[in-house]
Amino acid sequence: MLIAGNWKLFKGPTETSEFCAELRRHVVPNGIDVVVCVPFVSLVAAVTALDGSGVRVFAQNAHWQETGPYTGEVAAGMLAELGVTGTIVGHSERRQLFGETDETAARRAAHALASGLDVIACVGELEAERDEELTEDVLGRQVGAIIEATGASPRLTIAYEPVWAIGTGKTATPEQAQSAHAFIRTLVDAPILYGGSVKPENAAVLLGEPDVDGALVGGASLDVDSFAAICAAARSVSV
Ligand code: PGA
Repeated sequence: MLIAGNWKLFKGPTETSEFCAELRRHVVPNGIDVVVCVPFVSLVAAVTALDGSGVRVFAQNAHWQETGPYTGEVAAGMLAELGVTGTIVGHSERRQLFGETDETAARRAAHALASGLDVIACVGELEAERDEELTEDVLGRQVGAIIEATGASPRLTIAYEPVWAIGTGKTATPEQAQSAHAFIRTLVDAPILYGGSVKPENAAVLLGEPDVDGALVGGASLDVDSFAAICAAARSVSV
């Protein structure tokens, strides 16, 4: 069971140091995996503050080349050099706001894995796609692109994040999450996280579904108490 906090564009280095010092007092991984995915500029602060805690630090993106004329990008090898052990790729905010495509997400995933990082590759349908019953088509296309580029890897995790549930307070029902996860399971042998408005109040019921192997948590990961409560819920369902 993996609980990953996706901080998005929150917490600079100073706040990260303070938060992580607090986090290690409240969250002992103990039977589950705990990850925080922090902004690039806060990675060093997080790695330093969480050293020896068992909580791992991931980036939120990584480029598919190690060097080159790619202004604004960061390479997987550069992240590994900092003590970062993984990265998110293909988050729907990257896809919707920054032109990420199935192809670029897949290239990022493949290169990060080849560089020794763990990868959380995000997939998920828009509300209109769900309404038109296209959820499985979309998931098949998105997961297919990733698998085609990466092949099987023990360091690949998929995050199912229905776009209509991200940051909206609307959560997929446990049945909706389970059915999407079971479908993804037919496509890939990898842990599958659920993401989209996971909170302390709904974590246990979502994580209790048989094909839900963890959670990618946005808003609720920004507060130590709520993130710790989600980790505790994960621990209670995984024993
Ligand atoms: P949310 O974000 O928990 O705030 O909905 C999840 C995500 O975007 O990974």
